[in-house]
Amino acid sequence: MNFTLNNKATAQIDTDCLVIGLFEGAALQGSAAAVDQACDGTLRDLVKSGDIETGWKDATLLHRLVGVAAKRVLVMGCGEPEKFTPARFDGVCAKAGAFLRDHAASTAHICLHELKAGNKDPYWRLRQAAVALHRANYKYTATKAPKEHDHDPLTGVTFNAAEDMQPALVEARGMAKGYLRSRELGDLPPNICTPAYLAETACEFASSYENVSVEILKRKDMAKLKMSALLAVGRGSSNGPRLIVLTYTGTDDDSRPIVLVGKGVTFDTGGISLKSGLHMEQMKYDMGGAASVLGAFEACADLQLPINLITIVAAAENMPDGNAYRPGDVLTSMSGQTIEVHNTDAEGRLVLCDALTYSERFKPSALVDVATLTGACVVALGHHASAVMSKHDDLAEQLLEAGREAIDRGWQLPLWDDYQPQIKSTFADMKNVGGMPAGSITAACFLSRFTKDQRWAHIDCAGSTWKWGGDEGSTGRPVGLLTQFLINQAG
Ligand code: BES
Ligand code: MN
Ligand code: ZN
Repeated sequence: MNFTLNNKATAQIDTDCLVIGLFEGAALQGSAAAVDQACDGTLRDLVKSGDIETGWKDATLLHRLVGVAAKRVLVMGCGEPEKFTPARFDGVCAKAGAFLRDHAASTAHICLHELKAGNKDPYWRLRQAAVALHRANYKYTATKAPKEHDHDPLTGVTFNAAEDMQPALVEARGMAKGYLRSRELGDLPPNICTPAYLAETACEFASSYENVSVEILKRKDMAKLKMSALLAVGRGSSNGPRLIVLTYTGTDDDSRPIVLVGKGVTFDTGGISLKSGLHMEQMKYDMGGAASVLGAFEACADLQLPINLITIVAAAENMPDGNAYRPGDVLTSMSGQTIEVHNTDAEGRLVLCDALTYSERFKPSALVDVATLTGACVVALGHHASAVMSKHDDLAEQLLEAGREAIDRGWQLPLWDDYQPQIKSTFADMKNVGGMPAGSITAACFLSRFTKDQRWAHIDCAGSTWKWGGDEGSTGRPVGLLTQFLINQAG
């Protein structure tokens, strides 16, 4: 999809679909007023007659409006103007993107960013409109034959804005690219998206950008580093584990990098502590953390942000097998600390702990791991927010703020030491489960033992990175939060 700017008179724009927004009970403004004038008040009449609804996310498609050059006009309802928050703005743009995906139009001209949303400036509105539209227009195609009646996809999108808004579009392109990468990786089936496939994707980044390099560690390299926890999780699968280390150099000083670490469990059966069969196919999304740190990395490289960034993916497949690790095993992690395995389904923290220990060598200015770590996170926050946990309140706040800015929100859970006793073990330095209460927090407590001297935060994206039912599949989240965080660090 190609984004460009075009601020010619709206009614004269030749496009497959012109997209405008209308508030409930308010006078027509901007492009909507211009379109109404060009068609001699038809728009106003249709609102009056109830043929156009203006409630939030209502969508009405009009064909061949007399006096208007566009083939179609998509009228997006925005609800009451006082209630039009930035999140509602994002929702309208996303709905328009989904509508365009499902209807014939290969070009579109968008005017939605004209709409005032809270205190957001025109730069943000254009950036966000473009990202939301692009995201919502996504359609999975990798392993599906196109249907005969499938219409052409949306390829050319213009926005009603002047040339000086170009930087907002550039930023949108980068962020949208990251989201797309994350969604595509997430939705790929686990027999294609294996640890080796994630590694190949990282290698592609290294060949696409001059200032990106990559290192891929396999079993032998991990053994040398004594990464027994990561190795244990990958032991039951013939799709061997990979530790992927991507380096992006965006400054010519040697300023300390930001390090992002992603859980890349390409399929989580639970291992010997086998999950029940119900919805197990969704455990292909257990690499959602990895997908989002790879997406954010690609966005950063695309935008050539003036920061140094390292992205590490701990990739493994958690399978039961004669060689699989088992409950009762005691593992010696790379850090030297021992772990008693109580449940092989709590594998995410095991792949992450060695990756976090490994990250120490880069002396990160901030270390953030992203993982579909716990079902408890979905219970706590549902699908609307990622959980953010950190002992560094300033870092937590930066991440939460980035999430608010990108409408990819996080919500903080406490990481008090009060929870630490839940992972005490009789036979090792810790065990890998903390019992029923506060499952997301005790998982983070486990990780905290491997990041003691680091400015570290943990993001549990188990609820946010994919959804099922209705418009189901990967959401790409939290690429928006992470990319915004990187942009803010650069500025
Ligand atoms: N990948 C799962 C967490 C998960 C479950 C994410 C459902 C999204 C939806 C993780 O590896 C896991 O299985 N965690 C266990 C931990 C438990 C054994 C302590 C869980 O949440 O049940
Ligand atoms: Mn698991
Ligand atoms: Zn898992």
